[in-house]
Amino acid sequence: MKIFLLFLLMSSTFFAQNKTIVQRADSVLALMTLEEKVGQLVQYSGDWATGAAQGRPAETSDELLKQGKIGSFLNVVSSEKTMKLQRIAVEQSRLKIPLLFGLDVIHGYFSTFPVPIGEASSWNPSLIEKSARMQAIEASSAGINWTFNPMVDIARDPRWGRIVEGSGEDPYLGSLMAVARVKGYQGDDLSAHNTILACAKHFAAYGGAEGGRDYNTVDLSERNLRDYYLPPFKAAIEAGVGSLMASFNEIGGVPASACKFLMTDILRGEWKSDAFVVSDWNSIGELIPHGVAKDRKQAAELGIKATVDMDMETSAYFYHLAELVKEGNVDIKFVDDAVRRVLIAKFKLGLFDDPYKYSNVEREKKTIKSKEIVDATREVAQETLVLLKNEKNTLPLSKSLKSIALIGPLVKSKDDPLGGWSALGDSSDVVSVYEGLTKKIGKNIKINYAKGCSFLDNDKSGFADAIKAANESQVVIAFVGEHRGMSAEASSRAKLDLPGVQEDLIKELKKTGKPIVVVLMNGRPLTITWLQENVDAIIEAWYPGISAGFVIADVLFGDVNPSGKLPVTFPRYVGQVPIYYNHKNTGRPYNPKDRFTSYYMDLENTPLYPFGFGLSYTTFEYSNPVLSKSSIKKDEALTVTVDVKNTGKLEGKEVVQLYIRDLVGSVTRPVKELKDFAKINLKPGESKRVTFTITPEKLKFYDLNMNYVVEPGDFKVFIGTNSVDVKESSFTVVE
Ligand code: NOJ
Repeated sequence: MKIFLLFLLMSSTFFAQNKTIVQRADSVLALMTLEEKVGQLVQYSGDWATGAAQGRPAETSDELLKQGKIGSFLNVVSSEKTMKLQRIAVEQSRLKIPLLFGLDVIHGYFSTFPVPIGEASSWNPSLIEKSARMQAIEASSAGINWTFNPMVDIARDPRWGRIVEGSGEDPYLGSLMAVARVKGYQGDDLSAHNTILACAKHFAAYGGAEGGRDYNTVDLSERNLRDYYLPPFKAAIEAGVGSLMASFNEIGGVPASACKFLMTDILRGEWKSDAFVVSDWNSIGELIPHGVAKDRKQAAELGIKATVDMDMETSAYFYHLAELVKEGNVDIKFVDDAVRRVLIAKFKLGLFDDPYKYSNVEREKKTIKSKEIVDATREVAQETLVLLKNEKNTLPLSKSLKSIALIGPLVKSKDDPLGGWSALGDSSDVVSVYEGLTKKIGKNIKINYAKGCSFLDNDKSGFADAIKAANESQVVIAFVGEHRGMSAEASSRAKLDLPGVQEDLIKELKKTGKPIVVVLMNGRPLTITWLQENVDAIIEAWYPGISAGFVIADVLFGDVNPSGKLPVTFPRYVGQVPIYYNHKNTGRPYNPKDRFTSYYMDLENTPLYPFGFGLSYTTFEYSNPVLSKSSIKKDEALTVTVDVKNTGKLEGKEVVQLYIRDLVGSVTRPVKELKDFAKINLKPGESKRVTFTITPEKLKFYDLNMNYVVEPGDFKVFIGTNSVDVKESSFTVVE
């Protein structure tokens, strides 16, 4: 207690409240030795590893903390443990600088929300903000003050397993989702006890890996980088994100963790950001196998000079940074700037004023899995399911059915609905599909269950039971997909079909002649062409989190009308990858009458399901879009208005989507670009008018000379229910 009071005294003496945060950070910096400065840039993992072990110093972390040689931990959870370490840092080190505790709170801490690609399918930023807010409230109660999220990597390649962690293929949707998450985690006041620092990752273009293979080479033009991959990072910065994570990959020969162009020129220069950058796990050390550093010392030099501020796990800064400065190979300014940025984050979090506010055992007990948070997992998940097919209104199912068959490896799984990267998510908290459906209809409808098969092996011995269950039921619901480890870090796939014998199982079930509904859980687009052609209804559920069973039951029986839209294109076959809606026209766009155009000899160009696609149990009718003007000046805006009517029998939510095309530019432009959307709720027969404003900002792009401008010329504007089914109009921009 005495030491704590001394600390508080120090706080008010040295870091008076009326000083700006930068001044306060500088006043601490002025007190630090070189070794203490380096300490602030070192991050170690605590209780478990989220990467391969690296050469750590022999001293215990307690000893290192006392010497001020660690600035942050990851993977330490609970108030008790974080409090213990924080006490050592604050009460036993010379300068008493508090620690950051980081964790991958990607879609929940204990209470697991839907995976991020599922959340993005809601196209509902305020719901996503709520999800992040709840995650922050829960994690912060256990001592966590920093999440390594949002992952804002644009991903056009479903082979890449980490597509599950992001918001899909589109920079506009991805930017809105990034902002929603940053706002949710950081709140209005980062110094509140229940807000945490967010981290936009992986900077940059990690999702562009060749062949969709994780950690693989990325080679992009600067234009491609700026047009597609950077906007969500920029949006996160504008929303005030406190940190970024450097990515593992190289871009055009320069590993991101040594990339001055990204960190110094773009992040610090163009975007004027003081957010600090943490490396990814050993990504500084990996400069050696990348082949740009001969040893850890050179790796440290490259990392700090690129302004990667904090070294996660490599020990490169720990061992070599002070030496590099003393030898004159690294200007102390690089170290000072990095430390200042880290200290600024600590000040913003209010840690210098109360380093223990996140570690509160009482609050932790009350908050973890609180009703408010658990209820929110269900509320969010309700909007994340995407109805992909619904032949002859097979869905929703009638509650007066007498029997249903629940078949597949996911029916009773209490683990897979969590999805990958689920922090402390616990399968015992998951409502399985079986439990959810039993609760909803188990009293009145006979449930015939058979697992049928597993995800991966070729064992068909369970088929007979599954066929029997199907024969004894009026409707068959197959729950198939990928087990949750199949879409995650280091989980790339070369095939995108349903793994194992799951499709064979459904082929057998089809032979029973019963209506077949397929519910998918997976973390990436799958090539389910056969299913689309042969079963009656398909729902993409992604991994819905702990409330999975409730939400899937709600949707199957019509208590919730699905309203999700795909944030990513589904290919027909893996050979079409990368396939994305905002592609270029090419000099020879496909023309069936001309052999020498851009197409596959053995497959049509179109996707199985386009970006923005998703059905509802009701139907919507769109009027023609009406523009406020047919011609505008470069600095003017115009509005586009459309009436949307619910023409079906059920209440439902629709995502009204607005795309543009810039027909002639100094450089080629995509055939469509999402520029706005609105999610509206309509009762049967109800009509709503939606008005979008197309501002100059929405028309800008990087021209031939890489200036971000509006170019005069003709534009098309499209409004519709997905990126393909649209009504169009046009306008002109004049000088
Ligand atoms: C490696 C992953 O790439 C990154 O996303 C994660 O935040 C770190 N490990 C820490 O677990």
